[in-house]
Order: sequence, then C-alpha cells, then structure tokens
Amino acid sequence: MRLIFLGPPGAGKGTQAARVAEHYKLSHIATGDMLRRALELRTELGLKAKPFMEKGQLVPDELTIPMFVERIGEQDAQKGFILDGFPRNVEQAELLDQVLDEMGAQLDKVLKFMVLGIELVARLSGRRFCPVCKSVYHLVKQPPKIEGFCDKDGAALEQRPDDNEEAILERLEVYGEKTKPLFDFYAGRGLLVDVDAIGSTDVVFGRLLSAIDR
Ligand code: AP5
Repeated sequence: MRLIFLGPPGAGKGTQAARVAEHYKLSHIATGDMLRRALELRTELGLKAKPFMEKGQLVPDELTIPMFVERIGEQDAQKGFILDGFPRNVEQAELLDQVLDEMGAQLDKVLKFMVLGIELVARLSGRRFCPVCKSVYHLVKQPPKIEGFCDKDGAALEQRPDDNEEAILERLEVYGEKTKPLFDFYAGRGLLVDVDAIGSTDVVFGRLLSAIDR
C-alpha cells in the first residue's frame, strides 16, 4: 500500500503516520524528520536546509528531491509506504509520479487532514519532542507522565525551533500557497480522501483506518 498524508503543519500527520505505518507494516517516510536528522549530523544538506526550515519556508527542490529519491529507492520502501511531508508542491508531485512509474507502482490514497487554523496554532505552539527517541508530546493535549520529560527514556523534552509564532505563520502561508494546489492535483485522479482530524488521537486514528480500508 502507498499512501500520502497531506495536511497543514500541526495537523497530526507525523503522530498518525507512525501509528498507521505500524498497523499496516509500512515504511514511514517523513522528509521533515530526514532534514532535521541531516541538520543534527551537520551534513552539507542539513546546513543548507537550516535557514529555510528555521524561517518556515520550503527547502529548495534541488535539495529535497535527491534526498527523497534516494530514500524511496531503499529496500524497506518497496513493501509500501506513507509519505509524510512529501510532496509539498506540484513539482514534487510530478517527480513522485515519475519515480512511481519507474517502480511500476501506483498510489492508493491521499489522505487529507482537515483541521481549523486556530487549532493548528495551539497544537504547534504546545508541541514538545524528545531529542533522543523523537517521541512527540503536547503540553496540554498529549502531556508526558512527568512534566518536561519523555515517558520512554526520561530525556528532557525540547521545542522545535520552527514552532515559534513567526515561523508557524509563515509555514501556514507557504502551505496555502504551495501545497494546497495538490488537492486538485490528486482529486482529479480520484485519490483524495478528506479526513476530519479534530478529536483525540485515537478517534482520528480510527477515522484514518476506516478511510484507508474503505
Ligand atoms: P515537517 O516536519 O514536515 O513539518 P510540518 O509539515 O510543518 O508538519 P509538522 O511536523 O509541524 O506537523 P504534523 O502534521 O506532523 O503534526 P504532529 O503530528 O507533530 O517540515 C518541517 C520543515 O522541513 C518545513 O517547514 C520545510 O522547511 C522542510 N521540509 C520538509 N519536507 C519538505 C519538502 N518536501 N519540501 C521542502 N521542504 C520540506 O502534531 C502536532 C502537535 O499536535 C503535537 O504536539 C501533537 O502531540 C499534537 N496532536 C497531534 N494529533 C492531535 C490531536 N488529534 N489532537 C490534539 N493534538 C494533537
């Protein structure tokens, strides 16, 4: 099975992709996670991507596309995948078409996460993550058992540098301008499925499974 999770920043794509990938035994390919890892390792790619990510802008295609093509060519992706954060614009979607053609593969569904803007800002500004195992929390909606520390390994939780007000607003703007055109791109092929992403993570997970199995 090959799925795309499409939705604005903070819609819960990463949270749900991890669970859904485990449920169906798919690879979870998250370009934002890959770029953050590259930055942590201080690779040339990571250092070039840093200023764009900090401002909430898209990293240029000449950096993201080769990284994505290499990742999707890896062995584990051949059994099926969830794309989380890719494609982000029409050029990336067209590139994905070419790659899938070469693989002799097709997309099954594009799940569109529907969340109101005010909820997105609340989710992003309250997000915290574990720098060790990368688990994601929310100060109010998904708090850790001990405030400020990861449930799994006890590490002190951190805030993403692009989860500040200015970068959040820029990310929402970029989403509207560059990523929303993908709704028509995939709706025209009958692949787009709307999913109400408001509600508890368990409720949204259930809705996603129903939409995928339908
Ligand atoms: P990326 O990492 O992809 O960030 P994003 O799209 O902004 O999405 P987020 O990770 O912020 O949100 P999410 O939907 O995954 O939400 P989450 O599950 O964490 O990209 C970061 C940057 O990298 C980009 O700005 C760009 O610079 C660059 N980049 C990445 N891919 C690129 C590409 N293809 N091309 C160019 N540049 C690229 O949840 C958010 C919070 O809400 C959490 O605290 C969570 O606990 C909480 N939450 C989750 N579900 C619920 C729920 N149901 N109810 C209440 N709270 C919830």
